[in-house]
Amino acid sequence: MGQFLISQAALERNARILHDVSERSGASVLLALKAFACTATFPALRPYAAGCCASGLYEARLAAQHMGGHIAVYSPAYREAELAELLEFAHHIDFNSLPQWQRWRSTCMAHPRVQSGELQLGLRINPCFSTGHTPLYDPCIPGSRLGIPAEQLEGADLSGISGLHFHTLCEQGAQELIDTFRAFEKQFGSLLSTPHIRYLNLGGGHWITKPNYDRAALIALLREIRELYHVQVFLEPGEAWAIHTGVLRTRVLDVFESLGYHHAILDVSASAHMPDVLEMPYRPDIFAIRSTPCEESASPAVRLPGEHYHPAGKAGEKAYTYRLGAPTCLAGDVLGDFSFDTPLQVGDELLLDDMSHYTMVKTTHFNGVPHPDITLLLPDGSLRRIRTFSYTDFSNRLG
Ligand SMILES: Cc1ncc(COP(=O)(O)O)c(C=O)c1O
Repeated sequence: MGQFLISQAALERNARILHDVSERSGASVLLALKAFACTATFPALRPYAAGCCASGLYEARLAAQHMGGHIAVYSPAYREAELAELLEFAHHIDFNSLPQWQRWRSTCMAHPRVQSGELQLGLRINPCFSTGHTPLYDPCIPGSRLGIPAEQLEGADLSGISGLHFHTLCEQGAQELIDTFRAFEKQFGSLLSTPHIRYLNLGGGHWITKPNYDRAALIALLREIRELYHVQVFLEPGEAWAIHTGVLRTRVLDVFESLGYHHAILDVSASAHMPDVLEMPYRPDIFAIRSTPCEESASPAVRLPGEHYHPAGKAGEKAYTYRLGAPTCLAGDVLGDFSFDTPLQVGDELLLDDMSHYTMVKTTHFNGVPHPDITLLLPDGSLRRIRTFSYTDFSNRLG
């Protein structure tokens, strides 16, 4: 059975960077739970996070129970019972369309937490400015359902609205945010200048903890927004908190040749345990875990003493190429073709790098494949098993 192995020290390294941005810019940096919701790590993150960004009631409850701090909720649409509960403890609720806002306006405005200012209400807007290249992750594609375009706001009754929210980036740098903000400013600047707008949420997709991210440019922009528009500024990255903090370890269950290909079947599934490999799609970095040293310098996110990590190459680059596949029925449930210096054997351990974000939150029990355990590597080098999964987790899921 596979194992997600998360490094607390690596999480703290990212958290310190995000906290530093927050301190220097005056912006609040939230953790987007949709990317990373491993609550056992929250005590380590809590000192650094201003709170959480939630996609609805369940994530908001998780935030309140395990993180505390500010809870910003945005959902494309709210159900009545969900909204009633959120009104009791969320700090921002953002609406995706004018009909949603009009439908819930009077319920919200009548709530004492809204009247006291403890809970503020906002609109997600769509600046219709794409900087990404993957339509699946671009909320500004033509026909997008996410956010209100500028022309719809002309003449709309916005009394009761005190915040604006946009989320348009995905794994992007400070310049893309600056360009997006300038496009936003042109269309929504006069609204942002009105005194009843008190917060601006710049969404997620900021790769702030990547080594080449221009943090000085980000901080300058955040300060400018605060000083010019007198609003509280929020960022809600997910990936930036958890990037390069975890790996998925797996064992080879079978090796065979068929129709001219060498196949290795692993004990984890792309579809069930790391669906972004198929959805995004992307090719993970893979290492063979060996006891013999290796000269190559690439290093996975989490290392254990006594182990050496031999990077896999592209197909044909090293002597032995395999198609790495899952133990499921889905024909396309493969990680790709990878090559190794030595032949793979049943029982060999492989490491799939950078598997903390958008993996554990998306796993399923598809095909009844056993779910990988989750283990935390503590800063003192000890391992703490956070969660194991059994047949009961599978059998309880669907009735
Ligand atoms: C509204 C919103 N906020 C924040 C995020 C987090 O983005 P990321 O994990 O790319 O930083 C997302 C991701 O889809 C989102 O949709």
